[in-house]
Amino acid sequence: MGRKIVITSGKGGVGKTTLTASLGIALAEAGKKTVLIDADIGLNNLDVVLSIENKVVYDILDVISGKCRLKQALIQDVDNPSLYVLPSAKLSDSPLLNAASFRNVADALALNFDFVIIDCPAGIDNGFHRAVSAADEAIVVTTPHISAVRDADKVLSLLSGYNLMSVGIVVNRVRGDMVSRGEMMSAGDIVRAVRCEPVGVVPEDDYITVYSSAGRVPFDTVSGRAFKILASNVINGTRNIFDCSARPRLSAKIRRFLGV
Ligand SMILES: Nc1ncnc2c1ncn2[C@@H]1O[C@H](COP(=O)(O)OP(=O)(O)O)[C@@H](O)[C@H]1O
Ligand SMILES: [Mg+2]
Repeated sequence: MGRKIVITSGKGGVGKTTLTASLGIALAEAGKKTVLIDADIGLNNLDVVLSIENKVVYDILDVISGKCRLKQALIQDVDNPSLYVLPSAKLSDSPLLNAASFRNVADALALNFDFVIIDCPAGIDNGFHRAVSAADEAIVVTTPHISAVRDADKVLSLLSGYNLMSVGIVVNRVRGDMVSRGEMMSAGDIVRAVRCEPVGVVPEDDYITVYSSAGRVPFDTVSGRAFKILASNVINGTRNIFDCSARPRLSAKIRRFLGV
């Protein structure tokens, strides 16, 4: 039986979809058969981030309503044959999209995959509830900004009401130079404030901005390395944390990509 992990946050725009896609790629590269469920109904950001939106034929609602079989709705990634995506539904108000049906889909996928990663919508309403109900583990994403940390704290207390085996936190968009000048909260400050175990730290990285609409972040970038460490922590239960203290700079490679 595969592991079912929801990526959640409360606040929107902190990097849940980026993290879901990049963690999925890193898990697949590590040889783990991985499926990503886009539970952000109506927005379908995940297939855009992975550049597979043109391949979408069926979605999670088609599976739940019996219009297609689960296998028919899955899209295999071009670069990583071990990575699949179950696209989100375009309709947001179907009563079929509920916690029980999401759980059934995730359970069915867990029979054939090592990892089922669920990209949760922002907010703490129905969409949050059905995505979290489908998982056994949660990763809460936050950024080093006070509003995101507050929302992460709220979400962590909500998650304690679910039957989850483990809950960890990822601090995204950390800028080592700002942390060292005392201008930004460090990952350690955040982990202490919300009292939750850190599973990963991801630096602010221009590569993510450059590649976010054009596919995936290469692994030889700073954030690529951070995602690889995160995936290895998730697989092995280790807690190695990426060191963001190196000053971020526009590398030669990204300059070539941007033509500057
Ligand atoms: N570590 C990072 N460095 C730079 N930009 C990032 C990073 N993480 C996310 N982003 C950018 O932040 C924006 C929001 O990310 P997204 O994953 O869509 O958030 P969410 O799914 O939580 O709403 C995107 O434009 C993404 O490219
Ligand atoms: Mg998203």
